[in-house]
Amino acid sequence: MNPDEKNELDGMIARVSDPVSGKIQLLQMVQETYGWLSEEHMRYIAGKIGTSYQDLFSVATFYAQFKFNKPGRTVIKVCRGTACHVRGGAQVLKEAKNLLGIKPGQTTEDGEYSLETVACVGACALAPTVVLGSDVHRRMTAKKMAELLRESGGGWKKAEKAPEPTAKKPKAGKSKGARK
Ligand code: FES
Repeated sequence: MNPDEKNELDGMIARVSDPVSGKIQLLQMVQETYGWLSEEHMRYIAGKIGTSYQDLFSVATFYAQFKFNKPGRTVIKVCRGTACHVRGGAQVLKEAKNLLGIKPGQTTEDGEYSLETVACVGACALAPTVVLGSDVHRRMTAKKMAELLRESGGGWKKAEKAPEPTAKKPKAGKSKGARK
Protein backbone atom coordinates (compact mmCIF):
# COMPACT_ATOMS: atom_id res chain seq x y z
CA MET A 1 0.00 0.00 0.00
CA ASN A 2 1.39 3.39 -0.89
CA PRO A 3 1.89 6.17 1.72
CA ASP A 4 -1.00 8.21 0.31
CA GLU A 5 -3.41 5.36 0.90
CA LYS A 6 -2.11 4.91 4.42
CA ASN A 7 -2.63 8.61 5.10
CA GLU A 8 -6.11 8.42 3.67
CA LEU A 9 -7.01 5.45 5.86
CA ASP A 10 -5.47 7.11 8.91
CA GLY A 11 -7.63 10.15 8.20
CA MET A 12 -10.76 8.00 8.06
CA ILE A 13 -9.92 6.36 11.36
CA ALA A 14 -9.35 9.77 12.92
CA ARG A 15 -12.76 10.98 11.71
CA VAL A 16 -14.65 8.22 13.54
CA SER A 17 -15.00 9.06 17.23
CA ASP A 18 -14.83 5.42 18.35
CA PRO A 19 -13.37 3.34 15.50
CA VAL A 20 -14.11 0.05 17.27
CA SER A 21 -17.85 0.66 17.63
CA GLY A 22 -17.85 2.63 14.38
CA LYS A 23 -16.55 -0.21 12.20
CA ILE A 24 -19.46 0.03 9.77
CA GLN A 25 -18.95 3.76 9.33
CA LEU A 26 -15.28 3.16 8.73
CA LEU A 27 -15.92 0.43 6.19
CA GLN A 28 -18.43 2.67 4.41
CA MET A 29 -15.81 5.39 4.09
CA VAL A 30 -13.31 2.94 2.63
CA GLN A 31 -15.82 1.66 0.12
CA GLU A 32 -16.90 5.17 -0.86
CA THR A 33 -13.29 6.10 -1.52
CA TYR A 34 -12.04 2.97 -3.26
CA GLY A 35 -15.26 1.40 -4.52
CA TRP A 36 -14.63 -1.84 -2.62
CA LEU A 37 -13.03 -3.32 0.49
CA SER A 38 -9.65 -4.84 -0.22
CA GLU A 39 -8.03 -7.29 2.17
CA GLU A 40 -5.00 -5.01 2.32
CA HIS A 41 -7.05 -2.02 3.44
CA MET A 42 -9.04 -4.03 5.96
CA ARG A 43 -5.90 -5.56 7.45
CA TYR A 44 -4.35 -2.11 7.82
CA ILE A 45 -7.44 -0.68 9.52
CA ALA A 46 -7.85 -3.73 11.76
CA GLY A 47 -4.27 -3.33 12.96
CA LYS A 48 -4.79 0.37 13.62
CA ILE A 49 -8.02 0.01 15.63
CA GLY A 50 -6.84 -3.02 17.57
CA THR A 51 -9.01 -5.72 16.10
CA SER A 52 -8.39 -8.59 13.70
CA TYR A 53 -8.89 -8.70 9.96
CA GLN A 54 -11.27 -11.66 10.47
CA ASP A 55 -13.40 -9.57 12.81
CA LEU A 56 -13.61 -6.68 10.37
CA PHE A 57 -14.27 -9.02 7.46
CA SER A 58 -17.07 -10.85 9.29
CA VAL A 59 -18.72 -7.52 10.14
CA ALA A 60 -18.51 -6.44 6.51
CA THR A 61 -19.90 -9.70 5.11
CA PHE A 62 -23.02 -9.23 7.20
CA TYR A 63 -24.04 -6.27 5.02
CA ALA A 64 -24.92 -6.62 1.35
CA GLN A 65 -23.70 -3.09 0.64
CA PHE A 66 -20.03 -4.06 0.85
CA LYS A 67 -18.04 -5.33 -2.11
CA PHE A 68 -15.00 -7.55 -1.84
CA ASN A 69 -14.01 -7.51 -5.49
CA LYS A 70 -12.56 -4.54 -7.27
CA PRO A 71 -15.26 -3.09 -9.54
CA GLY A 72 -14.62 -2.67 -13.25
CA ARG A 73 -14.00 0.75 -14.75
CA THR A 74 -17.55 0.64 -16.11
CA VAL A 75 -20.27 -0.62 -13.79
CA ILE A 76 -23.48 -1.89 -15.34
CA LYS A 77 -26.48 -2.27 -13.06
CA VAL A 78 -29.52 -4.10 -14.31
CA CYS A 79 -32.71 -3.45 -12.37
CA ARG A 80 -34.42 -6.52 -10.97
CA GLY A 81 -37.33 -4.67 -9.40
CA THR A 82 -40.86 -5.90 -10.01
CA ALA A 83 -41.76 -3.35 -12.69
CA CYS A 84 -38.61 -4.13 -14.64
CA HIS A 85 -39.00 -7.84 -14.16
CA VAL A 86 -42.52 -7.98 -15.59
CA ARG A 87 -41.45 -5.93 -18.60
CA GLY A 88 -38.56 -8.09 -19.67
CA GLY A 89 -35.78 -7.19 -17.25
CA ALA A 90 -34.77 -10.84 -17.00
CA GLN A 91 -34.03 -10.94 -20.74
CA VAL A 92 -31.96 -7.78 -20.47
CA LEU A 93 -29.95 -9.28 -17.63
CA LYS A 94 -29.51 -12.54 -19.51
CA GLU A 95 -28.17 -10.65 -22.52
CA ALA A 96 -25.77 -8.62 -20.36
CA LYS A 97 -24.46 -11.87 -18.83
CA ASN A 98 -24.05 -13.48 -22.24
CA LEU A 99 -22.36 -10.52 -23.86
CA LEU A 100 -19.95 -9.84 -21.02
CA GLY A 101 -19.43 -13.48 -20.07
CA ILE A 102 -19.87 -12.73 -16.36
CA LYS A 103 -22.53 -13.06 -13.68
CA PRO A 104 -23.84 -10.30 -11.41
CA GLY A 105 -21.21 -9.51 -8.81
CA GLN A 106 -18.36 -10.30 -11.20
CA THR A 107 -15.91 -8.22 -13.24
CA THR A 108 -14.57 -9.01 -16.70
CA GLU A 109 -11.00 -10.32 -16.79
CA ASP A 110 -9.69 -7.11 -18.32
CA GLY A 111 -11.15 -5.16 -15.39
CA GLU A 112 -13.31 -3.12 -17.73
CA TYR A 113 -16.88 -4.08 -16.79
CA SER A 114 -18.68 -5.10 -13.64
CA LEU A 115 -22.20 -6.43 -13.69
CA GLU A 116 -24.58 -5.80 -10.81
CA THR A 117 -28.27 -6.01 -10.12
CA VAL A 118 -30.27 -3.42 -8.21
CA ALA A 119 -33.69 -3.49 -6.59
CA CYS A 120 -35.18 -0.36 -8.20
CA VAL A 121 -33.72 2.82 -9.62
CA GLY A 122 -36.92 4.83 -9.33
CA ALA A 123 -37.83 4.90 -13.02
CA CYS A 124 -40.43 2.13 -12.96
CA ALA A 125 -42.73 3.86 -15.48
CA LEU A 126 -40.01 3.43 -18.08
CA ALA A 127 -38.99 -0.09 -17.15
CA PRO A 128 -36.91 -2.11 -17.76
CA THR A 129 -33.96 0.02 -16.76
CA VAL A 130 -30.19 -0.32 -16.79
CA VAL A 131 -27.73 2.04 -15.13
CA LEU A 132 -24.39 2.49 -16.83
CA GLY A 133 -22.05 4.72 -14.88
CA SER A 134 -24.40 7.41 -13.63
CA ASP A 135 -26.84 7.29 -16.57
CA VAL A 136 -30.18 5.54 -16.36
CA HIS A 137 -31.19 3.86 -19.62
CA ARG A 138 -34.88 3.27 -19.91
CA ARG A 139 -37.13 0.86 -21.83
CA MET A 140 -34.24 -1.50 -22.32
CA THR A 141 -34.34 -4.62 -24.45
CA ALA A 142 -31.79 -7.36 -25.06
CA LYS A 143 -30.92 -5.70 -28.37
CA LYS A 144 -30.45 -2.32 -26.72
CA MET A 145 -28.10 -3.92 -24.21
CA ALA A 146 -25.69 -4.81 -27.02
CA GLU A 147 -25.95 -1.29 -28.41
CA LEU A 148 -25.29 0.18 -25.00
CA LEU A 149 -22.12 -1.85 -24.56
CA ARG A 150 -20.95 -0.92 -28.01
CA GLU A 151 -21.47 2.76 -27.27
CA SER A 152 -20.07 2.60 -23.76
CA GLY A 153 -16.58 3.47 -24.95
CA GLY A 154 -15.15 0.98 -22.53
CA GLY A 155 -13.29 -1.02 -25.14
CA TRP A 156 -15.82 -3.79 -25.06
CA LYS A 157 -14.06 -6.70 -26.75
CA LYS A 158 -17.15 -8.36 -28.06
CA ALA A 159 -18.53 -5.15 -29.51
CA GLU A 160 -17.90 -6.19 -33.08
CA LYS A 161 -19.71 -9.44 -32.57
CA ALA A 162 -22.72 -7.75 -31.06
CA PRO A 163 -25.82 -8.02 -33.18
CA GLU A 164 -26.62 -4.87 -35.05
CA PRO A 165 -30.11 -3.55 -34.47
CA THR A 166 -32.13 -4.73 -37.42
CA ALA A 167 -35.09 -3.10 -39.08
CA LYS A 168 -38.22 -5.23 -39.23
CA LYS A 169 -38.20 -7.32 -42.36
CA PRO A 170 -41.37 -7.31 -44.42
CA LYS A 171 -43.22 -10.61 -44.23
CA ALA A 172 -42.47 -12.97 -47.07
CA GLY A 173 -45.49 -13.74 -49.18
CA LYS A 174 -47.14 -13.11 -52.48
CA SER A 175 -48.31 -9.64 -53.19
CA LYS A 176 -51.55 -9.09 -55.06
CA GLY A 177 -49.62 -7.76 -58.03
CA ALA A 178 -47.64 -11.01 -58.34
CA ARG A 179 -50.70 -13.01 -59.30
CA LYS A 180 -51.31 -13.75 -62.91
S1 FES B 1 -38.42 -1.66 -10.70
FE1 FES B 1 -36.85 -1.14 -12.09
S2 FES B 1 -36.86 1.02 -12.01
FE2 FES B 1 -38.29 0.47 -10.52
